[in-house]
Amino acid sequence: MVNDAHGSPALSAIHTETRSFPPNVRFAAHANATNFEYKKAEADRLEYWAEAAKRLSWREPFTEILDWSKAPVSRWFHDGTLNACDNAVDRHVREGRGDRVAFHFVGEPGDTQTLTYADMLREVSKAANGLISLGVGKGDRVAIYLPQIPEAVIAMLACARIGAVHSVVFGGFSAESLRQRIDDAEAKLVITADGGNRRGTHLPLKPLVDEAVSATEHHPTPAASVENVLVVRRTGQDTEWHEGRDLWWHDVVDPQSDVHEPEWVEAEHPLFILYTSGTTGKPKGLWHSTGGYLTGAAHTHRLVFDIKPETDVYWCSADVGWITGHTYIVYGPMINGTTQVLYEGTPDTPHQGRWWEIIQEYGVTVFYTAPTAIRTFMKWGESIPDQYDLTSLRLLGSVGEPINPAAWMWYRRVIGGDKCPIVDTWWQTETGSILLSPLPGVTATKPGSAQTPMPGIVMDVVDDAGRSVSNGEGGYLVIKEPWPSMLRGIWGDHHRYVSTYWNHFDGMYFAGDGAKKDIDGDIWLLGRVDDVMNVSGHRLSTAEIEHALVSHEWVAEAAVVGASDETTGQAVVAFVVVRTDGSGADASGEEVADALRKHVRKEIGSIAKPRTILVVNEVPKTRSGKIMRRLLRDVAEHRDVGDVTTLADSSVMDAIRDGLESGKGD
Ligand code: WT7
Repeated sequence: MVNDAHGSPALSAIHTETRSFPPNVRFAAHANATNFEYKKAEADRLEYWAEAAKRLSWREPFTEILDWSKAPVSRWFHDGTLNACDNAVDRHVREGRGDRVAFHFVGEPGDTQTLTYADMLREVSKAANGLISLGVGKGDRVAIYLPQIPEAVIAMLACARIGAVHSVVFGGFSAESLRQRIDDAEAKLVITADGGNRRGTHLPLKPLVDEAVSATEHHPTPAASVENVLVVRRTGQDTEWHEGRDLWWHDVVDPQSDVHEPEWVEAEHPLFILYTSGTTGKPKGLWHSTGGYLTGAAHTHRLVFDIKPETDVYWCSADVGWITGHTYIVYGPMINGTTQVLYEGTPDTPHQGRWWEIIQEYGVTVFYTAPTAIRTFMKWGESIPDQYDLTSLRLLGSVGEPINPAAWMWYRRVIGGDKCPIVDTWWQTETGSILLSPLPGVTATKPGSAQTPMPGIVMDVVDDAGRSVSNGEGGYLVIKEPWPSMLRGIWGDHHRYVSTYWNHFDGMYFAGDGAKKDIDGDIWLLGRVDDVMNVSGHRLSTAEIEHALVSHEWVAEAAVVGASDETTGQAVVAFVVVRTDGSGADASGEEVADALRKHVRKEIGSIAKPRTILVVNEVPKTRSGKIMRRLLRDVAEHRDVGDVTTLADSSVMDAIRDGLESGKGD
């Protein structure tokens, strides 16, 4: 059914980490979370969630909490009505918090902008009126392909405000990936920018949108659903213009009225679609509801990040193009009335202390980032953060991949000054919000463990037969009861939703992660057990990259694995067989690697570019023709290769290893 968890010798690996950090007494005295949360949730799980949902602002209150009669599709609070943007913005102005800063925006070149909640209300209202003027309405899909600038947040909230469904596509994806997502969701409008700032240069976006929506060699007809492309001027770079289709954001939005009545939607109305890689070549359009999703987002943000909206300055370094940006920049924090930092650029532009400089400058108190970033900073050396005053920090978070104890300890000591609790938060695009995490002020934290299900969440680690494993043992991570922010499905593909998540274990949601319970019952994540890689906290599908590779004329066959990497957690390693009858037959290994990297970048995006490309004569397969990824992973990680008896031709492995050792790879 599923492979072994990679990145770990075996699921039953025994951890040797025994350190534990009890909560700081002073922190605990003021913490939003207490042990009572767990008790309340245990006493009446549904009532616990109803209470969390009632913290939102509802137009029509709900009377039913959960309808699970159509399992595995859940409906939460379904007879209530509300609006996501009203909760994130209007409510604060209505209740007298309009002057509070919502965003301290920092552009990569150093430009800054301060937006209060009252400013946000004016901006989202104008943008909503602008979208309506373009004929966008309730239920329409809008693709958003923007850099990390305030307009990205404003565009998402404006969609939510009119009941349109946003589909944000991360700016690092290619034109082809964007096209695929536009077509799948049948987006009526694409919102983009001329470009974004990245590492001191201008990253083009509009040209990629042009390529995505126009007729090309790949796609003989233009994207059928797209009526307009709305373009934010960010970098000022020259941009081709398609009259009648392309419109400047400032021409459409600026003249609009800054008054707009939100569209009240039923709780189950789709708020957004977000595409993520699965085990096949086609990305899945996961879609989330309004009421349940917002409940999970706001509730977990308040408890896990201990947000005190009057005094905290919160910074989540994720991009809004990923679920972390949706839940922990846009919806959770804004519903809680949080003041945030929003930063456009990379951590090393113009210097490697940029992030710490921003923390010092804005007095950031709560900081949420990914293990890959932490390991990169470790590599750069602690003398860099040491130059800045980071004493404003009081809580640190980690997300996206397992954090190794060494990185956790470094984060605690160097960034957190040995005083900040660390929350290692496990969740997925599918789960919508954090499901596993210590609660700051309550849980004694362990370096490297995401520890405990959130109050109201029922999870377990089970064996192949779906039986709960004992403490000290490993297995598969599952969720045993529905939760408010769970995905409602895969856009347009109910069957795939059921088969991906619900067919592995009877009545349980299968997360795709291997995990282990330690002797206290705390959960340690061991990585994906399916054909999904996790590179720098971003999910990539082996099949998708293989498809991209074989679409290059030089390639006869390709196999992709995620091999462990010191910095990025996992790295993409590709084994390719070059066609002997084509123009690439005489190319050197380096030329092949170079051409294929460019090709993958064009097909999927730079995030999917293989770190290593190995030219081999054959790819190892089982007798039934399935690629033996575990073996390839072992080769890529220079481990001894185990049992190869199921291999159709066992000499293949020797040949591959020889190639690796003679440095033929790249
Ligand atoms: C996969 C979900 C949810 C935010 C970003 C990624 C891995 C996520 C952790 C963590 C160990 C983690 C899992 C999960 N993951 N957080 N704290 N410890 N692994 O979202 O792209 O939907 O990927 O990321 O493997 O299944 P995503």
